[in-house]
Amino acid sequence: MKIERFTRLGFILAASGSAVGLGNIWKFPYIAGEYGGGAFVIMYLLTVLVIGFSIMIAEMFIGYEGRSDGVTCFENLDHAKPSIWRFGGFMGLSGLFVMIFYSVVIGWIFNYIVIALTSLPANVTEAERVFNTMLNTDIVTQLFYHTIAFIIITYVLLKGIKGGIEKLNYVLMPLLMLIIGGMFLYATTLDSFGAAVDFMFKADFSKINSEAFVVAVGHAFFTLSLGMGAILTYSASLPKGSNLIKSSLYVVAIDTAIALAAGLMLFTFLFQYGAEPAKGPGLVFISLPAIFYEMGIIGNFFAVIFFVALAFAGLTSAVSLTEPMVQYFISRWNFSRLKAALSMGLFFYLVGIVALLSNIDTYESSLTFFGNNFFDLVDFVTAAIMLPLGGLIMSIFVGFVVEKQRVEKVLKEPLGKFFELWYFSIRYVAPTALSIVALNLFGII
Ligand code: PFF
Repeated sequence: MKIERFTRLGFILAASGSAVGLGNIWKFPYIAGEYGGGAFVIMYLLTVLVIGFSIMIAEMFIGYEGRSDGVTCFENLDHAKPSIWRFGGFMGLSGLFVMIFYSVVIGWIFNYIVIALTSLPANVTEAERVFNTMLNTDIVTQLFYHTIAFIIITYVLLKGIKGGIEKLNYVLMPLLMLIIGGMFLYATTLDSFGAAVDFMFKADFSKINSEAFVVAVGHAFFTLSLGMGAILTYSASLPKGSNLIKSSLYVVAIDTAIALAAGLMLFTFLFQYGAEPAKGPGLVFISLPAIFYEMGIIGNFFAVIFFVALAFAGLTSAVSLTEPMVQYFISRWNFSRLKAALSMGLFFYLVGIVALLSNIDTYESSLTFFGNNFFDLVDFVTAAIMLPLGGLIMSIFVGFVVEKQRVEKVLKEPLGKFFELWYFSIRYVAPTALSIVALNLFGII
């Protein structure tokens, strides 16, 4: 099967499009708020730098050398046949699971573009009412926008790598950067910018507990799109002779810059208008719209472009979450792209409806498992368990299963004297940190 190739810029945009998503603009600010700011942000940044960056290189390597879907890539790089490591390729399933709630949230964002265009809630109480009414009672609105999200994502996927994914990212990523960059610059002119910087970077380590550590590591993976085969699948379409280190650096840098810009901008607005930083998932849907209302006319404008940017971020990540399994069915089961894209789309669409219903008052109790409703459970299981597990599998695979010469052939030159350091990190540092997360999660340490 011949895999379509990205252009070099197309790859950087698509991989950053995957990384920059709801995780950066919706999730990062609210978890940073919930876990008290500074110390959490520093832990997250350290994880991104020490573990995230190393695993990004490893995941790109597997795709670039394996040149196929996730399962076949693992097989191609393993000497032993049949390879038990091919099961590692099924990490693509986690992406599809994430889509179960991700598509519903993209639907909320579409709804908020319309709210921003028509009537912003006039205060936090009103904003809370609008959000909770949508979330807990309004099946029709959520279903309508979830359906639109499903249609757009599936359409892009069935157009393929060049005609769909690359094109989408060529258009949406520059616009997204422009919007977030512009709003960030505006935030720097406000009095509360300094308070936002303090909140995000002044570390108070007394606020850190093991739960915060697990969330920070899980989020570092989530935000960089690691451990699900998204980066792997895109890297299988990298042009020959690409420099994987440069590409990883770009993606990590763009992702981190957008998360920090979005966080600083949001907290500046919150402090400027006296709102609470620890508002949970409703932060951008409750606090922010009320603030935009208070800002007057510029707030109305910001509200529209902010939710448009959020939708762009969500869509470019959504296609990358679904593509690994689409690619798997195309190359292993001989599905046509149309059939593969449609069946994967229908999967997240239909199960997504269950997630959506699990937030609705009437159904919540029957769709609650282990103390979490289905929506929150999928979020938790994917971000906290499946992604780090995918990362662990990849680091052990590249560190111990693939022969070192093969790794050196691709990475020795671009990494130069850092090669051994990276190799050590992939073999020992990343697996140790990820195992601590796993043991902690199951209450063993
Ligand atoms: N990185 C995306 C975000 O921050 O929203 C989410 C994501 C996309 C996670 C693709 C994993 C993935 F494979």
